[in-house]
Amino acid sequence: MSPTAPSSNHDTISPAIFYWGTPVVLITTENEDSTFNIAPMSSAFWLGNRCMLGLGGISQTTINLLRTKQCVLNLPSDDMTDAVNALARTTGSKEILTAQPGEGYKYFKRMNGYEYVPDKFGRAGLTPIQSDIVRPARIAECPAQMEAELVGVYEMARDADTKGFFTLEVRVVRTHVHREIRMEGSKNRIDPDKWRPMIMSFQELYGLKGKVVDESVLARIGEEEYRGFSNSVEVEERN
Ligand SMILES: Cc1cc2nc3c(=O)[nH]c(=O)nc-3n(C[C@H](O)[C@H](O)[C@H](O)COP(=O)(O)O)c2cc1C
Repeated sequence: MSPTAPSSNHDTISPAIFYWGTPVVLITTENEDSTFNIAPMSSAFWLGNRCMLGLGGISQTTINLLRTKQCVLNLPSDDMTDAVNALARTTGSKEILTAQPGEGYKYFKRMNGYEYVPDKFGRAGLTPIQSDIVRPARIAECPAQMEAELVGVYEMARDADTKGFFTLEVRVVRTHVHREIRMEGSKNRIDPDKWRPMIMSFQELYGLKGKVVDESVLARIGEEEYRGFSNSVEVEERN
């Protein structure tokens, strides 16, 4: 089929950002002094038991992840905007205080009101709880918390002048969820009717609508069909 002529209700634009809508993740990592950092981010997607995280190289989170290879991906629900907003425009990196013109994202942060905050848990009023496998603490208030290990690093925009952004591949090694979001009668499933992720769209915070908008044809495939790509479990545990 050949394409139709451009219609008059299509505009060609040049967006400064392409944040079309992705879930907010609060990443916890361990600082060099053994305290814990939290960073809100949303350039994240999941495939199998891997999560790809798009992060600036100067963020304390990236520095900690590259050094320790460990983090927890904590997912806030859409009623946790106070905590996310308390963490917005903060960094656990002191470097920002002295950033100079020409220092890219670091200077951008200084010029755009970012604050150095060493105690992010205190700032956001969140509660750290011990993880099972990794050293960084989980965030008790987040309904989903995934302990994860760094397995790959990819430098983004190598073709461009704006360098310093990375995609970090982490492998989820343990998942914890609040009981309220579990699917009744299933051992390993989340009930999407009960889970209310916070979505960042063009820097604004949204929730999902109360109901799915339509049947998903993809969801006709049983979740367990994907098991081979991620975590193996005993056959009797499957549900
Ligand atoms: C809702 C939200 C989403 C964000 N998404 C990202 C992101 O995807 N990648 C990124 O590098 N920074 C993102 N940021 C900015 C980081 O939070 C910021 O770089 C912060 O200083 C990182 O903290 P850290 O230096 O202590 O690691 C986001 C901030 C907010 C509030």
